[in-house]
Amino acid sequence: SFIYSKSLDQLEYLHDAAVAVSSAGKIVAVERECGGKDKALEKISSRLGWGSDATTGFSKEVYETGEGQFFFPGFIDTHLHASQYPNVGIFGKSTLLDWLNTYTFPLEASLSDPAKARKVYSRVIRKTLSHGTTCAAYYATIDVPSTNLLADLCLAAGQRALVGRVCMDQLAPSYYVDESPEASLSATRESIAHIRQINPEGDIIRPVITPRFAPACSAPLLTKLGQLAAEMPGLPIQTHISENKGEIELVKELFPPESTGAKDDSYAAVYDAFGLLTDKTILAHAIHLTESEADLIQQRKAKVSHCPCSNSAITSGAARVRWLLERGIVVGLGTDMSGGYSPSVLEAARLAALVSRHVAMGGDETAKLSVEEVLYLATRGGAEVVGLEDKVGSFEEGMEWDAQLVGLGVLGEDGQVEGQEEEDGNVDVFGWESWEEKVAKWVYNGDDRNTRAVWVKGRLVHERK
Ligand code: GUN
Ligand code: ZN
Repeated sequence: SFIYSKSLDQLEYLHDAAVAVSSAGKIVAVERECGGKDKALEKISSRLGWGSDATTGFSKEVYETGEGQFFFPGFIDTHLHASQYPNVGIFGKSTLLDWLNTYTFPLEASLSDPAKARKVYSRVIRKTLSHGTTCAAYYATIDVPSTNLLADLCLAAGQRALVGRVCMDQLAPSYYVDESPEASLSATRESIAHIRQINPEGDIIRPVITPRFAPACSAPLLTKLGQLAAEMPGLPIQTHISENKGEIELVKELFPPESTGAKDDSYAAVYDAFGLLTDKTILAHAIHLTESEADLIQQRKAKVSHCPCSNSAITSGAARVRWLLERGIVVGLGTDMSGGYSPSVLEAARLAALVSRHVAMGGDETAKLSVEEVLYLATRGGAEVVGLEDKVGSFEEGMEWDAQLVGLGVLGEDGQVEGQEEEDGNVDVFGWESWEEKVAKWVYNGDDRNTRAVWVKGRLVHERK
């Protein structure tokens, strides 16, 4: 079966179906209700005019799945810090600002050691791919060579990625800060040039302008990054917004509106004043926004990365996803590793569901997100956040084959998982569940053991042995 989001609250289920993927990784045919595998192949080949596989320009990949298995679009992690992976789970009782100083800056600084960076980044890519993440919006560090290495490794592994060299020239320890706005900008340009050089088509790796967050950037640096965004309008921008109340106070102190010409004293207005709030901007967190701030974000068509794992772990707050969606703001999911303790977007999806229930228990009855809705955020919502909505996120014809094969544990008569003695995962299927129920069991109990294989643009990038 093939399952993907048709709309925010609806999944499309294709059973007895087949999909043909071209050698360029594009979905060129989708056939449903075929009447068996042989008929499916026949239908596809007559439709595409296949004579023999190699001569037609189509690759021979036609997909059909077994019981308890389905194809699902690859997950899109719209916000994570590749450099923080060694710290997953390590945050104690800290909140954002002390967490940055205690745990995060020392680790990020240490990745200027190329051997260490290679070890960490290689592992992050393998780990996220094994959890079905086919596209990731990465923060690296301020170090250019290791940031470029992250891009090299993503390209080699075949993971789609936005790779950002982190810009920060204030309010950080002296061992981990850009020397000046000029130095920050030229380092950023260097990394952008490298990424464009290794993947000129930009189909797999793209650079992303990455002001860490307003408090860590001086006004001259934000000015320069806004100018860079205007000079390279195709480039995405990623940053953090309104994650923590202390952080918001800091922004008000550092950037009074009279100093920036901002329309008011809100956090969003600061980014806007520097030309950094655009339809290409990915804003992580967006928890404590005011009404008018949300309106500004919506007007600028900036996107939100919701990071429920991080927001819960470092006690930042509960973002009101329904409230954002109702205002017409595009939302995707982020793991925000290692503010979040898990590299899994599936974990982020179930935590989005749980956090939405906490928001509901706080009084907003409509806040609850369904399984269908969190899966939409993990795929199509994420695709829109990173600007790839025409390419990935569903299995419609013309989209690219970014997919994961999900396998659940189908129990036989004896209560054993058929054909597998071990490592079948947490999701047991008894045989009487509907497909909707199977998907719900996957969302709430699944993990990387259920992700049996992963493809990006038609290329097999992970297979569970
Ligand atoms: N704000 C500024 N830097 C960071 C970071 O590394 N993680 C999170 N969650 N928030 C931030
Ligand atoms: Zn973050």
